[in-house]
Amino acid sequence: MNDFTPVRRCVCFATTFEQLKEADVKSLEEAALRFGCGTNCGMCKPYIQRMIDTGETAFAIIESNPPETL
Ligand code: FES
Repeated sequence: MNDFTPVRRCVCFATTFEQLKEADVKSLEEAALRFGCGTNCGMCKPYIQRMIDTGETAFAIIESNPPETL
């Protein structure tokens, strides 16, 4: 059974993907310019891109590829 809490916001700027959708954000650049989203840790960027692509505003955790070197 999956028991994840969905990802729904840019944590650094306390902005939900729903708010970005309602503001008709169409690109990562626009999310950054208007709300700051993606300009601090950047963890929200793949989710914002999915929101733009799909219109969805809650997501399962996206696993990123591990870095090749640490
Ligand atoms: S979660 Fe969006 S910049 Fe950190």
